[in-house]
Amino acid sequence: MTGGSPLIVGNWKMNGTQSTLSELDAIEAEGAHRRVKVVICPPATLIATAAAVAKEIEIGAQDCHAGNGVAFTGKLSPAMLFDAGARWVIVGHSECRACAGETDDTVREKAERALEAGLAVIVCVGEPKEARDRGRENAVVLSQLTASIPTLAGAALTIAYEPIWAIGTGMTPTSTQIEHMHALIRRALIDLYGAAGQSLPILYGGSANGSNAAQLLSIAGVGGLLVGGASLSAESFLPIVQAAAARREQQLCSVTSRRIKNEIN
Ligand code: 13P
Repeated sequence: MTGGSPLIVGNWKMNGTQSTLSELDAIEAEGAHRRVKVVICPPATLIATAAAVAKEIEIGAQDCHAGNGVAFTGKLSPAMLFDAGARWVIVGHSECRACAGETDDTVREKAERALEAGLAVIVCVGEPKEARDRGRENAVVLSQLTASIPTLAGAALTIAYEPIWAIGTGMTPTSTQIEHMHALIRRALIDLYGAAGQSLPILYGGSANGSNAAQLLSIAGVGGLLVGGASLSAESFLPIVQAAAARREQQLCSVTSRRIKNEIN
């Protein structure tokens, strides 16, 4: 995990009705979210109510359109999402890339328009199973990444590495594979953005849950988690938030003990 507070993002996908919003109350009542950063991305129908219900958890959208003020039936612009109360947006999720035939260029345009509208942006990248089987995962992810992220670095940019074969399957890459991919993404961000690329969070996503969150968060370079299924209820999401809070505390303790050691020496 990198230096900053871990970021835990729940992506509710096509789930949730008004009654589901009581999960936000239950998460906030427990309190661990205050020690990390928690974002929930409900379906667009719930953004405004979720933003009114949530006191500290930030609300995000799952997608946006790159156009603004133009005629696009059924689409939502970043400005409209911001107006509804979203402060984050996920772009380039593999489900959108696959179902909507979204290209890297479209993802980049969405990311750029969303940043302009004041939203923090999570750009998703990740390889399909065939690419990993053929040892092509680095090439696939790097090419997606460099073509999908905004040309100019912005502090409000986050990358999520979500191997497609790990989404909703109960399978996760090994710690070494995740560490390797996160290091590769970090190097590419530094190549593209210079020093600004050093601090952008890189999340892992794909079958993260309460049982594996602590281990995933302990992997070097993992700055947080993008969680699908396990974010749908407070019961399954809270252990993930608690694992992140515990990890944060460990980090702070080791920083403090290093400082004390330095002062003594
Ligand atoms: P799961 O956590 O259900 O595997 O989904 C991951 C995901 O796609 C989050 O965006």
